[in-house]
Amino acid sequence: MNKVFSMAIATAIAISCCTPDQQSKEDRLLWLTSTEPDVEAEVVVDPTLEIHDDGFIIRDTPEGRYIIAKNDIGALYGKYALDRLEKTGQASGNLEILEEPSYDRRILNHWDNLDNSIERGYAGGSIWQWGEPVPVEQIRKYAALNASIGINGSVLNNVNAAPEILRSDYLGRVAEIADIMRPYGIRVYLAVNFSSPAVLGGMETSDPLDTEVKQWWSEKVAEIYGLIPDFGGFLVKANSEGRPGPQDFGRTHADGANMLADALKPYDGIVMWRAFVYAPSSPDRANQACDEFVPLDGQFRDNVLIQIKNGPIDFQPREPFSPLFGRMSKTALMAEMQITQEYFGWSNHLVYLLPVFKECLDSDTYCEGAGSTVSAITTGKIYPEIYNTTAIAGVANIGRDENWCGHDFASSSWYGFGRMAWNLDITSEEIAKEWIQQTFTDDPAFTEPVLKMMMTSREAAVDYMMPLGFHHLFAWEHHYGPEPWCDVEGAREDWMPRYYHKADSCGVGFDRTRSGSGNVDQYHEPLASIYNDLSTCPEDLILWFHHVPWTHAMSSGRTLWEEICHRYDRGVKTVQEYQALWEEMKPYVDLARWEAVKAKLEIQESDARWWRDACVQYFGTFSAMPIPDDVAQPEMTIEEVKNKLAIFAAD
Ligand code: GCU
Repeated sequence: MNKVFSMAIATAIAISCCTPDQQSKEDRLLWLTSTEPDVEAEVVVDPTLEIHDDGFIIRDTPEGRYIIAKNDIGALYGKYALDRLEKTGQASGNLEILEEPSYDRRILNHWDNLDNSIERGYAGGSIWQWGEPVPVEQIRKYAALNASIGINGSVLNNVNAAPEILRSDYLGRVAEIADIMRPYGIRVYLAVNFSSPAVLGGMETSDPLDTEVKQWWSEKVAEIYGLIPDFGGFLVKANSEGRPGPQDFGRTHADGANMLADALKPYDGIVMWRAFVYAPSSPDRANQACDEFVPLDGQFRDNVLIQIKNGPIDFQPREPFSPLFGRMSKTALMAEMQITQEYFGWSNHLVYLLPVFKECLDSDTYCEGAGSTVSAITTGKIYPEIYNTTAIAGVANIGRDENWCGHDFASSSWYGFGRMAWNLDITSEEIAKEWIQQTFTDDPAFTEPVLKMMMTSREAAVDYMMPLGFHHLFAWEHHYGPEPWCDVEGAREDWMPRYYHKADSCGVGFDRTRSGSGNVDQYHEPLASIYNDLSTCPEDLILWFHHVPWTHAMSSGRTLWEEICHRYDRGVKTVQEYQALWEEMKPYVDLARWEAVKAKLEIQESDARWWRDACVQYFGTFSAMPIPDDVAQPEMTIEEVKNKLAIFAAD
């Protein structure tokens, strides 16, 4: 990877001898500059067209260029697609394009609170600006940006939902937002708190089998649809991380989800019920979702989708796909990705996340033999009779910052999520390229090396944070920076890094084999056996599935300990190469953005060294082996590393 990247830098330096005019930022801040795409084509709306409701055709004929769709929204998608083709230099020639989305529902989950803070948000406050005048233009621009990439749903509020969101005054506000977004094809959804009947409705219980509770929800749903006829439905986090849920009343996830589904059914609304569950008592948190949900397969209503995070733990830099995707053949499933960089250096690190999302969707679960990928399951190809609708969700990284996402490169993951949800066949690389062309410049002297930087950025972050299957080495609570030694008195074991790395003098890693937690057997064969055997387990995941001796021989010829040191070092060096590249990119970017990215890369490089120094020294106390001579030696002592964390946490 580094070699390829160095070559890219060399090419960039060679090409940059000629100095282009520096970009003006005004028309290049994001991929879409105008809410109304200005394209030259005749638009034909034909309701009888046999095509997906959101689909479109772009067709060149001797009479001219046409965009043909079944309705206005399909036509709008066609216009945005043509606009993109024009901006990326692909609109000439004889066009004959038919596009239909891979998923019916392409949804952003905003973790926005009613006080305008955002859980795990790193780009300013909520764009909904609760309690202030409705920011009509901001919401319109947001809707247009989303429509231009095919996103057609927004869950407006945090999964850790305040019951108040269902208060009539808030619903009025939600209706105003829905009205602004409707012309762009965006439907509004809400995250709801399972205790709403008790907390908001003043009832004695929120038991899903209680007749009056059911009645309360039915009336609330009727009120919502009275205001928002195309309301999408509810997202629910229940019995997870202290949130209320049906288990509080001795009921199951199915009882809870079905009660809400029944209330929504008359209006075609859906329930997205999250599978993000784990208990402090569980010997392996990675097992919990299957343990709780697989026995309920077949019990959910047909307007319920189980929303599953890409991995079994929690949006870590690298996880295997969640085994639950391959375990439910009678229940509709959808994947949840995290676009906001909770575990990727917030909006300080340049990390393009499409490779993370694709890694999950492309994974083969083998549930019905080879080819049963997560994307094939969630697009309804494997069990078509189960899926009345298909969906995918991404936790938004959007706030009120001028560049929307905090880091000038972070909108690439928002853009990419939408493009991927629309068309699973476009590669991460193609998506990154078109984002660069529309956001910065289409000069190959910039696009080629910057594309390589983006494409390698996820692996770089894995290297300097958590290589080889390490996970959850993050600092307590805020999840920024390393704290593999973390020990908070009285805290849940499964919130502590040592629960995950299990380092001791013999080795490191979580034994999830058949002689350990047995997690490997939640996967179908041949994966179960591949993961179970240290000699066949992919090295990128060995510390996820195995407790590995420090002296274990890796494919590189190094020992595990040497390989760990080598990977941390490689991650730091890659970020240093990004810095060198960015210096060369100055002529191609407006000064403000060039300086902003440069400043962020400085933080990223310093953080990468922080991670390296913390982890190699901490794990070195267990391996009792020296840091190899052919990698950089730590610059900070463990005490200095801890001080940096203390200063960060205090800020
Ligand atoms: C993570 C995150 C929480 C969030 C949770 C969820 O644990 O740190 O802030 O609420 O995921 O997805 O529900």
